[in-house]
Amino acid sequence: MTRIFAPLACLVATAYATAPVHDGANGSSGQAVTSNCKYACAQLRLTFGSAFHWPQNDNFTIWDAKQQEVHPACRIEPSSATDVAEILNTLVSHWCYFSVKGGGHSRNPGDSNSVGGVTVDLNRLSGVEILQGNSRARVGGGATTIQVYEALESRNLSFVGGRVGSVGMGGFTLGGGTSPFSNKHGWSLDNVYEYEVVLSNGTINTASETHNPDLYFALRGGGNNFGIVTAFTVRTFPQGPVFTSMTTYAANQSDEVLDKVYDLHTDKRLSSDKEMGYDLYYSYDAENDEFTLSGTQRYSKPVRNPPVFAAIDRIPTLSRNTNIGPMSEAVDGTDSMGTTRHLFATLSVAPSRSLLSKGLEIFQEEVENIKHVPGLVPNFISYPLQRNAIKAMKLRGGNALGIDRDEPLFLILISTAWSNSANDADVNRMTENTIKRLNTMATNMGVTSQYKYINYASAAQASTVFPGYGDENLQRLQRIQKSVDPRGIFTSKGLWRGFVKLV
Ligand SMILES: Cc1cc2nc3c(=O)[nH]c(=O)nc-3n(C[C@H](O)[C@H](O)[C@H](O)COP(=O)(O)OP(=O)(O)OC[C@H]3O[C@@H](n4cnc5c(N)ncnc54)[C@H](O)[C@@H]3O)c2cc1C
Ligand SMILES: *[C@@H]1O[C@H](CO)[C@@H](O)[C@H](O)[C@H]1NC(C)=O
Ligand SMILES: *[C@@H]1O[C@H](CO)[C@@H](O)[C@H](O)[C@H]1NC(C)=O
Ligand SMILES: *[C@@H]1O[C@H](CO)[C@@H](O)[C@H](O)[C@H]1NC(C)=O
Ligand SMILES: *[C@@H]1O[C@H](CO)[C@@H](O)[C@H](O)[C@H]1NC(C)=O
Ligand SMILES: *[C@@H]1O[C@H](CO)[C@@H](O)[C@H](O)[C@H]1NC(C)=O
Repeated sequence: MTRIFAPLACLVATAYATAPVHDGANGSSGQAVTSNCKYACAQLRLTFGSAFHWPQNDNFTIWDAKQQEVHPACRIEPSSATDVAEILNTLVSHWCYFSVKGGGHSRNPGDSNSVGGVTVDLNRLSGVEILQGNSRARVGGGATTIQVYEALESRNLSFVGGRVGSVGMGGFTLGGGTSPFSNKHGWSLDNVYEYEVVLSNGTINTASETHNPDLYFALRGGGNNFGIVTAFTVRTFPQGPVFTSMTTYAANQSDEVLDKVYDLHTDKRLSSDKEMGYDLYYSYDAENDEFTLSGTQRYSKPVRNPPVFAAIDRIPTLSRNTNIGPMSEAVDGTDSMGTTRHLFATLSVAPSRSLLSKGLEIFQEEVENIKHVPGLVPNFISYPLQRNAIKAMKLRGGNALGIDRDEPLFLILISTAWSNSANDADVNRMTENTIKRLNTMATNMGVTSQYKYINYASAAQASTVFPGYGDENLQRLQRIQKSVDPRGIFTSKGLWRGFVKLV
């Protein structure tokens, strides 16, 4: 199992060199704990007992080494929405900075582990309750992908979850949530019926199509700018085992593979097979000093060689590992915690076959410059937001992403892992150069899109994420933000500053 799905860990990727304004103290990257936070922690300790942790004796791990290196004032693990409200009231009354952790897969210090402030760790909010004749489930705001898959599989159900088990429901769904099931059901944010959310004044609210519809719209793509989501009520559907196949190709097959993968995603006859998904990877393998093209075929029926992949399957492979099993098995890779540094950066483009091959060349040229970096694992990853998933974005009043088009949109993720802080600048430069050249090329080809997937954006791209949703949505989100958080506690001038801020 681990061997077959090891390349899934490729989807794992990266972070950022210099700490952005994500820290707890005063906007510098210092790790000082303010006296405000000392008092807030002392009060939380009295109320929360064993759910409270001082950093000196905290057994805490988080995915990215840069976030692992952060020193919070203290960490607190709420078990209910009421706990979250009480914690928030305490933090606001002491005016203490904080970060909220869902699955903790962000890459920048302060995104989900607070630099000198309080880390509000939602991991105990991980319950999964199946509702309404198996068509919905209420999922805790701190649940991980694998916890949800496992709970639903006991009833032969599934949901629109991600590709890696340790990723959190929280960040994944609030930003978008692309899934092997997305061609059929859309992205995760379009499969949430109701949010339970704690607002900055400490009240517990629900948002759905009919109840607080503005807040419902805003939570569908607005990230961590509106409140702390303590539960998501999501669509569930009957689901059996899925087919997954990982293949790698020799360099002289690249053109053929790109041709067939491009056809798969753009030819209506093929892409209308809604059971199908395909993720493309181009990666540098330091051990063998070579670049390798690979792909993951996904099919949400237990079919051994799905006909939709017939043309791709005729291309000779270097290796092929196939499995049929439950999603919880397919997403259960080895995902090491707190030891590796990561950087993600992204762009989205209209379909272009030539951009794909030229994009791989650009990536390769830029990676050539930093091959000396210890632990280097850079990936160029691409898959589309399919036509059908775009249609699902209009359901129940629509989401905030501002995507409306008749053809698929290809997401490109440059995702790099490495070992040492000494190389942060190298990886940062490689990534920025790659993105800049890809953007220039896309502009010249007339295939750019202003949309950037928030969950794949780098800190350097953060200020362009919400403008990429379009002027109208940006302004609507800002209006809603102001109305639910009039004091700006969840803005870049307030107490919860990490990740991608709207204001
Ligand atoms: C190995 C790996 C695999 C991935 N695979 C996929 C994939 O298949 N598809 C995909 O779309 N994306 C994928 N991603 C990207 C992923 O969606 C983002 O990294 C996402 O932000 C992670 O969410 P998290 O809860 O784990 O992270 P966190 O760092 O905990 O959260 C991200 C941000 O959201 C906020 N947040 C989290 N939970 C809540 C909540 N309940 N209420 C309010 N705010 C909250 C946090 O404060 C933080 O600022 C992957 C990332 C990694 C590292
Ligand atoms: C900000 O914090 C840093 C680190 O804690 C400290 O060195 C610096 O003096 C502070 N600056 C101000 C203006 O308070
Ligand atoms: C630390 O946490 C891990 C995972 O939750 C657990 O397996 C381990 O036993 C814990 N160690 C200590 C010293 O508590
Ligand atoms: C789930 O599906 C399997 C295989 O079809 C079946 O044997 C099992 O009884 C089902 N479980 C439930 C809870 O329906
Ligand atoms: C591709 O390269 C492999 C060796 O890596 C070789 O065996 C094969 O014949 C080549 N195929 C073509 C079409 O050139
Ligand atoms: C909390 O904020 C919400 C949104 O602004 C508002 O509707 C509600 O009246 C506020 N409640 C309290 C008790 O302040």
